[in-house]
Amino acid sequence: MTKLWGGRFTKPTNKLVEEYTSSINFDQKLAKQDIQGSLAHVDMLGKCGIISQNEVSDIKKGLSIIEEKIEKGEVVFSVADEDIHMNIEKLLIEEIGPVGGKLHTGRSRNDQVATDMHLYMREKTELMVELVEQVQSALLQQAEQHVETILPGYTHLQRAQPISFGHHLLAYFWMFERDKERLQDSLKRINWSPLGAAALAGTPYSIDREMTAEALGFESVYPNSLDAVSDRDFILEFLSISSIMITHISRLSEELILWSSQEFNFIELDDAFCTGSSIMPQKKNPDVPELLRGKTGRIYGNLMGLLTLLKGLPLAYNKDMQEDKEGMFDTAETLEGALSLLAPMLESMEVNVGQMRNAVKEDYSNATDIADYLAIKGMPFRQAHEVIGQIVLYGIQNEKYLLDLTIEEYQQFSDLFEEDIFEKLAPEQVVAARNSQGGTGFKQVYKQIQLAKQHM
Ligand code: ARG
Repeated sequence: MTKLWGGRFTKPTNKLVEEYTSSINFDQKLAKQDIQGSLAHVDMLGKCGIISQNEVSDIKKGLSIIEEKIEKGEVVFSVADEDIHMNIEKLLIEEIGPVGGKLHTGRSRNDQVATDMHLYMREKTELMVELVEQVQSALLQQAEQHVETILPGYTHLQRAQPISFGHHLLAYFWMFERDKERLQDSLKRINWSPLGAAALAGTPYSIDREMTAEALGFESVYPNSLDAVSDRDFILEFLSISSIMITHISRLSEELILWSSQEFNFIELDDAFCTGSSIMPQKKNPDVPELLRGKTGRIYGNLMGLLTLLKGLPLAYNKDMQEDKEGMFDTAETLEGALSLLAPMLESMEVNVGQMRNAVKEDYSNATDIADYLAIKGMPFRQAHEVIGQIVLYGIQNEKYLLDLTIEEYQQFSDLFEEDIFEKLAPEQVVAARNSQGGTGFKQVYKQIQLAKQHM
């Protein structure tokens, strides 16, 4: 088997080395991008008079035949040809003869692979933006229906203050909004063209990098050829953004799992998004959110992997960099799966409004409001806090919630208490009162929904 780079060698490559160094088993995912990059390159070579127009059209014809064959699954890639770039070049030469060998004029696999990955990252980043929006839209839909659904808000997973369920869901909306912004912002850097940097130093041919950049939809070209072929920041960025996003997905999943347990019973996930047990007939397991939570491991792992890979690499290209791909593919595909499931699962989730409301009845989460009541009547808040602490203790000892105590009982603790305390303690009141900007007060939540819609 002759190698594209065989000229300098006197012996065939050791079979194990061939296997070990090849990347075709995974980088064939870049076939489409590789051909797209080659088409732009060869066009430019023609326009700059580096090869003839006839040669350009032969090569372009050959590339589109190969593209079609790959799409139809008719191509068997070869490990001996190492990677997607050399596989395609070899196929091209087989298809159209020695003129195919002119494609690689003024270019190297080093700028070629970087170009392919920029194109891949752009496609995936744009796709993620769309998928995140679908999740946001599902959250928004549920939030709109549940502005006035009240449940306990927690700190330390202890009931803290009652809140609007819509408000709780919108908290996730804003996390995903930041993820979306990060993705959109990263496109600026993804859209730099490395093509034309050649192996590391540029090329003596009078190529036109702006021309290929424009043809490929890039906004600018890397100003430095060494940086162009060595930079993998754009992948690191994608892996970081994905890590932050999967953190959000995992936190939300954890809540869905808790809420659908019998202990909470706040929501019910649709049957279509749950699975059963092979032994316990009564089980309905939240496998999807559990897996979403579990996917965090590989997504963080891929980020750590690439950071570690790049640390200490001298300029410019090193073979180590071939290891940049599997993690990138894996993260993109894992996240695509996660976001695609999350949106319909949220949309179809049933909310147990009554159960949430009951939970609020059976707790002391309106205690802050009695402290505020006394504070408004002039007692220093710190002192009011102490007094209410004693009332809560009294309630616990006598098995009464704050709404169950009589006015006489209240007055034993402070003569500032009057009948109007009971209105102030009703959960609807407690929530509505938190009408400060961004608070859970219903009016604020309605406003927030309007604002959220402007981001869609
Ligand atoms: N398969 C290689 C990679 O993914 C392509 C670049 C190879 N360049 C080289 N000079 N060996 O990194």
